[in-house]
Amino acid sequence: MSPNASMTSTAPNAPTVQIVSTRPFDGQRPGTSGLRKKVTVFQQPHYLENFVQALFDILPEQVGPLAGQTLVVGGDGRFHNRVAVQTILKMAAANGVGRVMVGRGGLLSTPAASAVIRKHGAYGGIILSASHNPGGPDGDFGIKYNIANGGPAPEKITEAIYARTRDIAGYRTLEGAADLDLDRLGTTALAGMTVEVIDPVADYAELMEKLFDFDAMRAWFARGGRMRMDSMGAISGPYARAVLEGLLGAPAGTVVNGEPLEDFGGHHPDPNPAHATELIAAMSGAGAPDFGAASDGDADRNMILGRDFVVTPSDSLALLAAHATKVPGYRDGLAGIARSMPTSQAADVVAQALGIPAWETPTGWKFFGNLLDAGRATLCGEESYGTGSNHVREKDGLWAILFWLNLLAATGESVESLVRAHWKRFGRHYYSRHDWEGIPTERADALMAALREQLPTLAGRRFGALEIAQADDFSYTDPVDGSVSSRQGVRLILAGGSRVVFRLSGTGTEGATLRVYLERFEPADGDHDRPTQDALADLIALADTVARIRELSGQTAPTVIT
Ligand code: G6P
Ligand code: ZN
Repeated sequence: MSPNASMTSTAPNAPTVQIVSTRPFDGQRPGTSGLRKKVTVFQQPHYLENFVQALFDILPEQVGPLAGQTLVVGGDGRFHNRVAVQTILKMAAANGVGRVMVGRGGLLSTPAASAVIRKHGAYGGIILSASHNPGGPDGDFGIKYNIANGGPAPEKITEAIYARTRDIAGYRTLEGAADLDLDRLGTTALAGMTVEVIDPVADYAELMEKLFDFDAMRAWFARGGRMRMDSMGAISGPYARAVLEGLLGAPAGTVVNGEPLEDFGGHHPDPNPAHATELIAAMSGAGAPDFGAASDGDADRNMILGRDFVVTPSDSLALLAAHATKVPGYRDGLAGIARSMPTSQAADVVAQALGIPAWETPTGWKFFGNLLDAGRATLCGEESYGTGSNHVREKDGLWAILFWLNLLAATGESVESLVRAHWKRFGRHYYSRHDWEGIPTERADALMAALREQLPTLAGRRFGALEIAQADDFSYTDPVDGSVSSRQGVRLILAGGSRVVFRLSGTGTEGATLRVYLERFEPADGDHDRPTQDALADLIALADTVARIRELSGQTAPTVIT
């Protein structure tokens, strides 16, 4: 090779900012948790770029100038994650961002991204995930924006992004910039922007050590306590291995399916009784571990199990609240407990006993942000297997799992004995969610419209032994900023406190999913041993009668029961 040729090939041209013209795509409105679509939709030229540019366009006016600011970027490692991270890095540089902190390999669990944003005082962050939706080339992909408190952007921002996607004509990126090496820790420059590749686990693990009694948990394992943590082929694997098998001395193999894979190894990484069947099987029988847990695609959801015993997320929230002062991070008590409206009222009963406020918000973690920021709630939870606290501004799967482990270690009790004692003290809220997936959108909309139309006529109506005391469409006024979110789900509240709630999912990517939430209270001295679906049978029948689900959906049974 001649010296000249070698000179030209090793001296790269400095990347230059390029403006690429584009046209709007329909349907780039973020849903319950960001913009989620099929991978094939995101693979269309300009699709991701339009959304990211819309974000960079609205941030200066909605939040403040981007120049010199730090953004956190990372995702759950699903198919398309790496490609998307490279695109975003170039666009961030071309839009004048000062620094990007990106998890090694482009990875960051959702709660870890929240922790990193908060710890480093970042301007915000971009999280790539479709959470519990399946991954792979035929699966789903997603992107969402989180603000400086570490939590999902409020509707004001997501609506501004959407509005901007409607009239976008061009996006800024770099021409002549090579892809960055994301697999090596350290700092590099990209056209004037600093890119810092960080260990995705370190900041998060440090935060967990501050909240929980690691000595007690280490002793629990040392005494022979056995746990099975199923990461479902997703991003909680590296976090769980580092904390459980690393810092807490759990035996190797405690974490299963712990390698994050682009298609989650074919798992549907949604930790619930419908999809975590492998874990449920492993947790049954005499030889089963003492404690079972699972987390979802981006590690913000959790499922808790004892031997032959599954804990509902609503009960989990209530129980953690009732025992919170046994855990170092919550020793001084709770300011309040928040739950999404369809989540059972079990947490409210605990809040009442503790003399602290119970908040009821619409579905979507973003609604907890203001309450947490204002110090009016400490613990939050949703029926959809999400639990969290004021330590970050996302729900946090491993945090919830460590909270339970800390309680097992501190009390010497089993999962089942803790839950049964809870019911004996506070009563049991039998609870189930029935999902009717894949309903054609027009049919689902018509079903909800028919239900809403009936609302004024429902109060006072009787169905066998059940009487509807109140029927409404849930509307929420944020106590901190006064913003109002209406049409958040139809509630039938029965005399005695049982409830049936109907709403359409905001996270699906195909057709519509009707969610029917069912809840029945059994007092402290009542029967806590009935199979859940039996205990709820009359409410299930009432739901179908009132909403004409079978008739209007065209389906004969729910597709998922949790
Ligand atoms: C995501 C959100 C949650 C929400 C859940 C279900 O996990 O972060 O806050 O509860 O989706 O939402 P959906 O609209 O599908 O019922
Ligand atoms: Zn998730």
